[in-house]
Amino acid sequence: MDNRPIGIFDSGVGGLSVLREVQKLLPNESIIYLADQANIPYGNKTESQLRKIISKDIEFLEGKDVKIVIIACNTATVYALDFLRSKFNIPIMGVVPVVKTLANKTKSGRVAVFSTPATAKSQYLINLINKFAPNTQVYTVGSSGLEHLVEQGKTNGEEINKAVKKALLPLLTKNVDSIALGCTHYPFLNAQMKKVLGSKVRIYDSGSAIARRTRQVLENENSLSNRHGKDYFFTTADPDKFKKVAEKLLGYGVDRVYKARL
Ligand code: DGL
Repeated sequence: MDNRPIGIFDSGVGGLSVLREVQKLLPNESIIYLADQANIPYGNKTESQLRKIISKDIEFLEGKDVKIVIIACNTATVYALDFLRSKFNIPIMGVVPVVKTLANKTKSGRVAVFSTPATAKSQYLINLINKFAPNTQVYTVGSSGLEHLVEQGKTNGEEINKAVKKALLPLLTKNVDSIALGCTHYPFLNAQMKKVLGSKVRIYDSGSAIARRTRQVLENENSLSNRHGKDYFFTTADPDKFKKVAEKLLGYGVDRVYKARL
């Protein structure tokens, strides 16, 4: 048994879509959440910039004595996971698009991964597709800007509808029946995406999958917690702004948000 917290981080509020799945599946676990909003978006950074920035995120969480780190950001995972695992001793999990699920669930054999531009063009994603969906037609679509709207707490309304429509436009003629969300900000736009894509297209995010994998790792290491302590939220930017948006996205009150200095 290990009652130390789980560390979760993202460039911003997107990782809260992972946090809520971890809370649902592992209610006894305490969480330290870090939003590196001073460096958002990660989606337009180079690999070497990302490695430097994300190393600091992990050092910060290690300093808070977490027992495991979840990278709740696809962009960070696909560019830095292997590097980080070789650099740090702490167990590190990373969220990636559920390509295998797409390949298993599709009936038409035509699917898509919708992500940041960086994730869309990453070798890591190409490898995932080659490994888990070699016989499926997988379209990759990168979009920038949607994460910025979610950061402002915007998840519906005319502006969002327009932005989501524009971002998904390249997919509308491809007749895909399943889409994996490759950015943790996007699950908060689920309702809008459904409106644009229609009810026949299934949308899959990675939140519950990473929560299940985390439980498995903690179980294997005998490190599950037996009581929930306190969750802490940190941001490298404006705590008040984070608090407001986080509460809107999570649908519950967040005690206090602290400023993190990395
Ligand atoms: N939430 C991040 C991801 O999952 C993307 C946001 C960003 O570009 O910083 O990829």
